Amino acid sequence: MDVRFLLNGETVELTGVPPTRTLLDWLREERGLTGTKEGCNEGDCGACTVMVTDAGGARPLNACILFLPQLHGCAVRTVEGIAGPDGTLHPVQQAMVDHHGSQCGFCTPGFVVSMAVAHLNGDTDADTALAGNLCRCTGYAPIVRAARAAEAQPVPDWMRADGALLASRTVRQVGEGAAGGPIRDAYRPQDGDELAALYAAHPDATLVAGATDVGLWVTKGLRDLGTVIFLNGCSDLGAIEIGEDRVRIGAMADMNAMRAAMTPLHPSYGEMIRRFASVQVRAAATVGGNIANGSPIGDNPPALIALGATLHLRRGDSRREMPLEAFFLEYGRQDRGAGEFVEAVSFPRQPDRLKCYKLSKRFDQDISAVCGCFNITLAGGEVSAARIAFGGMAGTPRRAGTVEAALIGRPWSAETIAAAQAGFDADFTPMDDMRASAVYRLETARSMLARYFAEDGGGGPTLLEVRP
Ligand SMILES: Cc1cc2nc3c(=O)[nH]c(=O)nc-3n(C[C@H](O)[C@H](O)[C@H](O)COP(=O)(O)OP(=O)(O)OC[C@H]3O[C@@H](n4cnc5c(N)ncnc54)[C@H](O)[C@@H]3O)c2cc1C
Ligand code: FES
Ligand code: FES
Repeated sequence: MDVRFLLNGETVELTGVPPTRTLLDWLREERGLTGTKEGCNEGDCGACTVMVTDAGGARPLNACILFLPQLHGCAVRTVEGIAGPDGTLHPVQQAMVDHHGSQCGFCTPGFVVSMAVAHLNGDTDADTALAGNLCRCTGYAPIVRAARAAEAQPVPDWMRADGALLASRTVRQVGEGAAGGPIRDAYRPQDGDELAALYAAHPDATLVAGATDVGLWVTKGLRDLGTVIFLNGCSDLGAIEIGEDRVRIGAMADMNAMRAAMTPLHPSYGEMIRRFASVQVRAAATVGGNIANGSPIGDNPPALIALGATLHLRRGDSRREMPLEAFFLEYGRQDRGAGEFVEAVSFPRQPDRLKCYKLSKRFDQDISAVCGCFNITLAGGEVSAARIAFGGMAGTPRRAGTVEAALIGRPWSAETIAAAQAGFDADFTPMDDMRASAVYRLETARSMLARYFAEDGGGGPTLLEVRP
């Protein structure tokens, strides 16, 4: 496959690239840029963080689960490009020195890149910006102190160069041509129509959106993906439309875009997405991938089901839609035909009654053990509607139908909540696994309903919520 992008300000043109070659391997093995480290090789530690700039701006991404074709038309800056061309340290590098932010140094390049991107974007929430970078020896306090110390320093000119270069005529050509057509067994369609035609013609192909799941199939599962279709050229599929009556989210919307869109509409949903993986993973992971992978512990499906979402599927020129919950047939099986892809998901605009409770062993960068999403509407002191959906309680994301029925039409009272809690035993038979036991999952689901009721009354349970 042919791929062209900017690397630390210089144009790179590659031909015949294996479509699943990761940026991390290529940087280290073929460019000698060994500042970018390999820690986990699965998106968890941030040692491989690089800065990637495209029309949407600059974001940190994990190079270990980023395939080279995903970079076509982008600008990449590694830790070697964070210091100035004359060797002047970036303010975050100087601050790391001044505040003793590094001991063994293995994690340091990843931290420096994450800090430099946050600095460039004016993001001062250091705890969130650095949640995807793990350090096992220095401890986080000096690193966060360094990030804070650098905040007041101006962004160096060279850090803005990538955006300017991409915007210029010469370099915009980097992203043109050689992208749409078949090159070996990999394709990079430019919009949804092209994707629909390609996928209908190659229904056995593997779709790659953000690659935060698929990347691991390659780096950990050592899988040969066969024919691959990269979706990241289809910018039309990334639109989020907030209309008067409905919200429509394109399949390629990433989690950072989702967080920004959901926070004003349904703040609890936005807050849950802040705890979805890390900023690096959220900058790649798409809502379409989070639905299509059929995971029983994906965080978006329960929230979207609770909001009454409709899933929009497309195959060639034909489209169909269904309630999102109907898409998940059983563990590992979804209602999606050969050559059919997720185009979008939509839900009605509504007054905010949604609460999302994500329970995981770690606060940041962890998959849910249980994710409960509650959308309960009241009228005249009674429950007029209830949509409650869970992840982690069954082989698929699933509604709590018995609990909902026990609430609807009843007074909004502690007695109703107590009676409805019994319904979880009928709705779910969760499993024991490394994240939680079945007993704990059921108990926690009951507690989440009680919490919703208590918070709705303004008091809230006696509960320590971890805040950044
Ligand atoms: C470190 C780490 C932490 C994570 N933490 C979380 C977390 O907290 N919560 C959570 O829910 N998930 C988490 N995940 C899982 C993952 O990030 C999400 O499931 C993500 O949304 C997948 O989206 P993607 O775009 O990366 O999908 P990809 O990896 O590109 O694809 C995933 C699957 O969906 C298919 N696919 C993608 N797009 C489409 C489409 N439009 N139509 C049809 N099929 C499609 C692909 O073929 C593949 O089968 C984590 C992953 C990592 C690596
Ligand atoms: S090596 Fe750990 S996130 Fe990439
Ligand atoms: S300085 Fe050693 S892992 Fe962070």
